Amino acid sequence: MKFDIAVMKGDGIGPEIVDEALKCLDKVGEKFGHEFVYDEVLIGGAAIDAAGTPLPQETIDACLASDSVILGAVGGPKWDGLPSEKRPEKGLLGIRKALGLFVNLRPAKLYAPLADACPLKPERIADGLDLMVCRELTGDVYFGAKHRDEDGTGHDDMNYSIAEVERIAHRAFQMARQRRNHVTSVDKANVLETSRVWRETVERVAADYPDVAVDYMYVDNAAMQLVTNPGQFDVMLTGNLFGDILSDEASCITGSIGMLPSASIGETNLGMYEPIHGSAPDIAGKNIANPIATVLSVAMMLRYSFDLASEADAVEAAVNSVLEAGHRTGDIAKTGERALSCSEMGDLIAAAI
Ligand code: NAD
Ligand code: IPM
Ligand code: MN
Repeated sequence: MKFDIAVMKGDGIGPEIVDEALKCLDKVGEKFGHEFVYDEVLIGGAAIDAAGTPLPQETIDACLASDSVILGAVGGPKWDGLPSEKRPEKGLLGIRKALGLFVNLRPAKLYAPLADACPLKPERIADGLDLMVCRELTGDVYFGAKHRDEDGTGHDDMNYSIAEVERIAHRAFQMARQRRNHVTSVDKANVLETSRVWRETVERVAADYPDVAVDYMYVDNAAMQLVTNPGQFDVMLTGNLFGDILSDEASCITGSIGMLPSASIGETNLGMYEPIHGSAPDIAGKNIANPIATVLSVAMMLRYSFDLASEADAVEAAVNSVLEAGHRTGDIAKTGERALSCSEMGDLIAAAI
């Protein structure tokens, strides 16, 4: 089959990691007889430099016309001084909204060969670590009104409508049915009104899924539980802000933030696939970034947007076999061990597919 993919490499390490992911995708095409056609478009700092805006209309149009979207990462110190409307990050938030991608799936799984890269004591991860953060992506304090008073006080309006919570909650319960039938809803209902709406709504939605166990946890406790007993989590259902923070935390227990992929999806098959990490300006241009999060994001694209489960399995198995053979980029290597470059890691995974 033929698939049209909009590719936004973005900033910092974005181009390096996306190139490796496309290398792996090309290998999938060769092996399984698919044609992946790439349409490269600009977002973030690269778009600001070329077109004066972090999200050109042309980029939105290309994404809407595609079967799926791949993104590297956006942002960097070069653009940090810009007003919020013009920042690279605004381009990312804008494309999520424009494509209606209200579900952000972030699977944190500890690959067995990486147990030594996990910062937790072995007894803490005895039950394994295989959880799915199901993060709401187009609401919350991210998208509420922002302004500054004359005296300089800053405001970001945090809000959640019942409908917004309902639709993400349904997705989380459906996801749990494909996993271990357990949802943990994370909020701050002891303090925030948005969280009380969140919890009441999740409680109502939960009644439609009597086969799925549900529990409720305050976000501060959840942050603590993630490092003391991560094996208790199956699907973690969260709002936009809490999900952003908890998924970075979950990623580091899988060995590195360079391991964690994500899928942003909505009502249709059109999704956007990106690593959860940023543009890593500190290591950009050095060919040392870990491309695995982006490669695994491509696997999620094959699974969720194209319904190509065997192809997705092949990519994930290739990553596992390369890790099992002891190959590591710097972020997951043991001290003193030789680290592979980003492109060497991409070559090995592509070869293993
Ligand atoms: P970051 O995720 O870019 O980097 C945090 C740390 O993790 C750095 O030390 C970095 O070197 C390391 N790291 C990240 N990805 C890695 C990889 N693949 N391999 C090895 N190491 C990796 O977060 P930050 O430094 O807080 O943000 C940098 C810029 O990225 C900011 O402009 C931020 O707004 C942006 N950002 C973008 C996205 C995105 O595009 N989705 C996500 C997060 C941050
Ligand atoms: C992420 C990033 C973004 C977010 C930023 C860059 C807007 O941190 O994708 O995790 O907060 O969603
Ligand atoms: Mn983040």
